[in-house]
Amino acid sequence: MSGIVGYIGKRNALPILLDSLDKLDYRGYDSAGIAVSNQHQIEMKKTIGRVKDLRNLLLREPIIQGNLGIGHTRWATHGVPSVINSHPLTGCTDQFFVVHNGIIENFLYLRKQLSLKGHVFATETDTEVIPHLLEEYNTGNLEETVRKALPLLKGSFALAIMSNDEPDRIIAVSQDNPLVLGFGKDESFLASDIPALLPYTREIHPIKNGEIAILTPGKVIMKDLHGEVQEVERNFVEWNNQDVLLSNHEHYMLKEIFEQPKAIEDTLQGRIGENEILLPELDDFLSKEKIKSIKKIDFVANGTSYHAGMIGKKIMEQLVGLPVEVSFSSEFRYDHGPLDENNLVIFISQSGETADTLSALREAKKFRCLVIAITNTTGSTISRKADYTLYTKAGPELAVPATKAYTAQITASILLAMWLTQKGEFMGTPMIPELISSLNRLKSDVESTLIMTQDAIDQFAQVTFDQEHIFLMGRGLDYVLALEGALKLQEVAYLHADAYAAGEMKHGTMALITPGVPVIALATQEHLVEKTISNIKEVKARDAFVVGITTVRDELLYEEVDHVMYIPSTHSFLMPILAAIPLQLLAYYSGTVRGHDVDRPRNLAKSLTVE
Ligand code: BG6
Repeated sequence: MSGIVGYIGKRNALPILLDSLDKLDYRGYDSAGIAVSNQHQIEMKKTIGRVKDLRNLLLREPIIQGNLGIGHTRWATHGVPSVINSHPLTGCTDQFFVVHNGIIENFLYLRKQLSLKGHVFATETDTEVIPHLLEEYNTGNLEETVRKALPLLKGSFALAIMSNDEPDRIIAVSQDNPLVLGFGKDESFLASDIPALLPYTREIHPIKNGEIAILTPGKVIMKDLHGEVQEVERNFVEWNNQDVLLSNHEHYMLKEIFEQPKAIEDTLQGRIGENEILLPELDDFLSKEKIKSIKKIDFVANGTSYHAGMIGKKIMEQLVGLPVEVSFSSEFRYDHGPLDENNLVIFISQSGETADTLSALREAKKFRCLVIAITNTTGSTISRKADYTLYTKAGPELAVPATKAYTAQITASILLAMWLTQKGEFMGTPMIPELISSLNRLKSDVESTLIMTQDAIDQFAQVTFDQEHIFLMGRGLDYVLALEGALKLQEVAYLHADAYAAGEMKHGTMALITPGVPVIALATQEHLVEKTISNIKEVKARDAFVVGITTVRDELLYEEVDHVMYIPSTHSFLMPILAAIPLQLLAYYSGTVRGHDVDRPRNLAKSLTVE
């Protein structure tokens, strides 16, 4: 996926466009470009690489001064990262300038049809069909031309368009892809995500399917595809600019790891009563009768959010006693069991824009399932498509590797499972009081964990510095933790990290254990420590270098490993939140000690709005 920005107003557009793009480069950083208009003509500059490379290009090759413009930072889907494939893109002439996020699924068909009409294509991108289509359907009025061309595009897309014929305006459209309008004093802003708007405004309007926004000096007109004027909402957004500043942290990833106490506190805020979980808005959607009619629950997500779903699954099934499954979004949409109105499907997505997850949600809706979204982004597409949205309150997460969003997602999943248990009077009801008292201590437990593990982790990162392979293992919830720890090490340290159910190591993977290879043993589930210790003995017998992460000051474990990291002890269901922290810190230090850009790991992006 990519990032789109736009500005129109009284000020010079260039610095605003560049600063906004800087705040969006977590959406993709293969190439960047801008087009600026001085209301008479439009000029474009683009480059391979990051926004900083675009700034350097503009120092060497200045662009015209203008008070409106559009910009783009790209995560390549169709067409390698190159200058020619960078956005903005034009057609046969330099009449239309288009920046695009998403996928035009029927671009090959359109490209063929347009080529037959004499259009000559210069790039390998799907996007390039759009300016050629605008040329083909040009009526001399930009808004009309967009209205005519838009219905021919299939897929998910957010677009910002400028035209040399009407160089005093920007047109913005969105179809199942995020694009947010921001309102200033006599100036308007466009961005794919809210963080890029926060330095200028907290009044926003997420552009919806079928809306066409016409940004002109001093005002924004919203129309539908028939040209009827629509109302422009002005939503006030909770986040503020301070939330998105790096402050005195070196990386967003470390900042966000240390924001976890507050993220969890805010996610719990107002949702824990004396001896019950309070989700009043859910009461309307899920009556006791409806809850009792649920026969199966699914968690569906991608990446780190999928690991939160795995934790949710294990806890949910122990509390409600119903069959619970967890699936990758990209798999669920083609491979789900029987679905109907008695299935509850819970989608977890930090951004609320992941295309795989949105597609899986559409599939669940087709079967009339009960659909709940757990997301961190107000006004996101998923929050508009789900029957009910349970928001995590982690604040903006700008590092590509998810950290505070993950522990907030686990927290929200536990709240949801507890609420369902109480309302449905399921078998886990007796567990609620103890869980509530553990939740009330969770923020301070997370703070203690951060203090207890940071130094030890830094040392361990040094130990793994020259390693290419690392194994993680655990049982039950610790196995899920091992999966998330491995993903973090892959994402941030580019380490070949693999996670195994501890009891499985001896059935094959043990062949890979050579002297000195690092193994991280998760042993935070007290009732499983004994069994995990026997697996530790097995790898130690092959001279692995073993680090244990545990809560019990169990001399047995201490005796068996090369290094132990202790974290506070709490309810076993909440242990995955605490134990995630040393794994996040390990990935962070292993990445920085290797000199990686941990906020922007190679080949990745924060939320993939393409399937
Ligand atoms: C990946 C991100 O692209 O998408 C992960 O790098 C994230 O960090 C995954 O967990 C899912 O994203 P989301 O927004 O749907 O939770």
